[in-house]
Amino acid sequence: NWKLTNYIEKTVAEIKEKVGSQKVILGLSGGVDSSVAAVLIHKAIGDQLTCIFVDTGLLRKDEAQKVMENYGEHFHLNIKLIDASERFLSKLAGIDDPEQKRKIIGNEFVHVFDEESHKIEGAKFLAQGTIYPDVIESQSVNGPSAVIKSHHNVGGLPEEMEFELLEPLRELFKDEVRKVGEELGIPHHLVYRHPFPGPGLGIRILGAVDAEKVRILQEADDIFIQELYKNGLYEKVSQAFVVLLPVKSVGVMGDERTYEYTAVVRSANTIDFMTATWSRLPYEFLDTVSSRIINEVRGINRVAYDISSKPPATIEWE
Ligand code: XMP
Repeated sequence: NWKLTNYIEKTVAEIKEKVGSQKVILGLSGGVDSSVAAVLIHKAIGDQLTCIFVDTGLLRKDEAQKVMENYGEHFHLNIKLIDASERFLSKLAGIDDPEQKRKIIGNEFVHVFDEESHKIEGAKFLAQGTIYPDVIESQSVNGPSAVIKSHHNVGGLPEEMEFELLEPLRELFKDEVRKVGEELGIPHHLVYRHPFPGPGLGIRILGAVDAEKVRILQEADDIFIQELYKNGLYEKVSQAFVVLLPVKSVGVMGDERTYEYTAVVRSANTIDFMTATWSRLPYEFLDTVSSRIINEVRGINRVAYDISSKPPATIEWE
């Protein structure tokens, strides 16, 4: 694709020109935008780029390990993996209000990132995977999502950070970012991942968060996602995940009575994430997902499927 090749060549040249021999840091989340930005910048300036990956302890199962394999080993990106799980979990202990959880997670992220970025001596630029829709959204002060939920994808870093911004994807739409990613050699499944919210599993564990609930949710969510891929359904839905309710119910396993948590499987189809419908997933598929979660995940004995549209429901449960 000559247009993309052109775009990549032009942008690589611009990055080289702008950065010169300076150092750049980038917050790598494992999501599409920051990953494509990282690989693109690395193509331009190699090891002058240091990526910081913060494991909040609220990520999908094995996420940190997968990011290190995919981008560290395969693309040779220089990634500093910061395991901040305990910090996040201890700050969240006993907190059940969704907006308060978001604030705590957002603030903690900024603290950890700030600390780590200052350990990288002489870094002049801060790179971000900001894409065109982020630029627009951050300009509309009264955008519905800004009112309903305090997203922290854009403008989440403190003003006083003395870095110059480097945002090579600022003019691109999502589908263009994906194409650039594939052109750069990032595997298809990584470039077509569903979006994942900044507060992560922190807002998919309803009520107070703890390490055991994180483990339970990671296992259940991983099964659902595996099955979507296995059945060719992953790219037919826009966002899919599992939610863990703080509700226990009675069940029976063999001769024993169980009293365990309820998981909700959620899958939404949407174009812009402002309105969405629930995915009409096949019954047989849902049956497989439910059986696997109940049989394989210790701590869950009941699975429900969310059949709510947005509005009035939101895609996430918190
Ligand atoms: P809702 O739940 O409002 O979600 O229908 C719409 C889209 O936004 C994502 N989302 C978030 N992303 N920080 C984020 O970075 C947040 O606090 C947040 N809340 C919701 C959600 O996953 C969906 O894609």
